[in-house]
Order: sequence, then C-alpha cells, then structure tokens
Amino acid sequence: MVIGYLLGSIPFGLLLTRLAGKGDVRDVGSGNIGATNVMRAGGKTLGAVTLVLDALKGAAAVWIAQNYFQATPASDQAAAAGALVGHLYPIWLKFRGGKGVATYFGILCVLWFTGALVYAAVWLATLAILRISSVAGILAVASAPIAAAILGQTILFPLLLGFALLVIWKHRENIARLRAGTETRVGRARSG
Ligand code: G3P
Repeated sequence: MVIGYLLGSIPFGLLLTRLAGKGDVRDVGSGNIGATNVMRAGGKTLGAVTLVLDALKGAAAVWIAQNYFQATPASDQAAAAGALVGHLYPIWLKFRGGKGVATYFGILCVLWFTGALVYAAVWLATLAILRISSVAGILAVASAPIAAAILGQTILFPLLLGFALLVIWKHRENIARLRAGTETRVGRARSG
C-alpha cells in the first residue's frame, strides 16, 4: 500500500507541464493536474502522455503487488487503494491531487481486465458523444462497480464502489459546473 501510495502520488501532469515550459497547470482551466487540464495547458500530446503515465502508475502499483509480494486479493487491493489515494491526495502537493479517472483505469487493467474494457468503452463512448471529460470520467468510474455487481465480482465490488465514490466526490466542482451549464467541452477554451 505504501509503495502504491508513493507511485500514485507522482504528479505527472504537473511535472510534464512544467518540463514543457507551460507553467503551473494548477493555474489553468479547472486547476486540476489531470490529463484533460494538461491538454488545456499544453496541448493534446502532453495531455495524452499524462493520461498514459497516470494510468501506468496505477497499473504498476498492482503489478508490483502481484509479482513481488504475496499475491492475495487483499494485497492487490491494498496496492490499488494506495495508488488511487496517492493520486487523489499526494503528500507532495499538500494532499491536493488529481481526480483519478486515468489512474483508476490503469489499476483496473491489472486487477480486472474485463472491467477495464467496460470502463474504457463507457469512457470513450461518452467522450465521443458528449465531449465532456468530467461526464465521461464519472460514468466510466460508475460503470466499474456496476459491471462487478452484474458479473459476480463480489470480492472486487466493495473496492470498486469505494473508488467510484471517491472519484465522483473529487468531481464535485465539475458537477456544480455541469448543473450551472458552464462545464466546457474537450477542445474548447474554458469560459470561467
Ligand atoms: O479526469 C479529469 C476529468 O474528469 C475532468 O477534468 O480538468 O475538466 O476538471 P477537468
């Protein structure tokens, strides 16, 4: 769990935006350090690299638990929880981290690949139709525990439900903007 937390807390979006000379991503758009906001700050490529690295750190945490520690559902889940909490609440950024959509996906890729496929399908389809990153993320994270319940993944269900609630909680400002009709679509400048 500690290794997962340390991996999860690496703020790739912040680091990459700074390295690219685009300033502090927290001063741009939503102020989030995730891929969507990195794209606003530094363009599509930088956003895509952030997405991949944020997913990889979640995948790496579970992979390390499975391959270098006693592989039990509990140890896998502890590593996964460490990685997600590390991303959401990184010690280096005074516990003000990202929203977890990419890291959750990376965790699922190793923990439950079928769930990752459902998640990716919901995420991509929603993004393609609505072009609102927060809605795509919220529906994708919600789809994981729903899929677990339907497909009988009883051991994973509580963890995936807890993850989904945490990630949705981190989107509360997005939800307020959606209700106010001010949430921007991907590819357009934020108006306020
Ligand atoms: O993964 C983050 C996304 O769901 C929302 O990002 O920057 O629009 O708050 P943002």
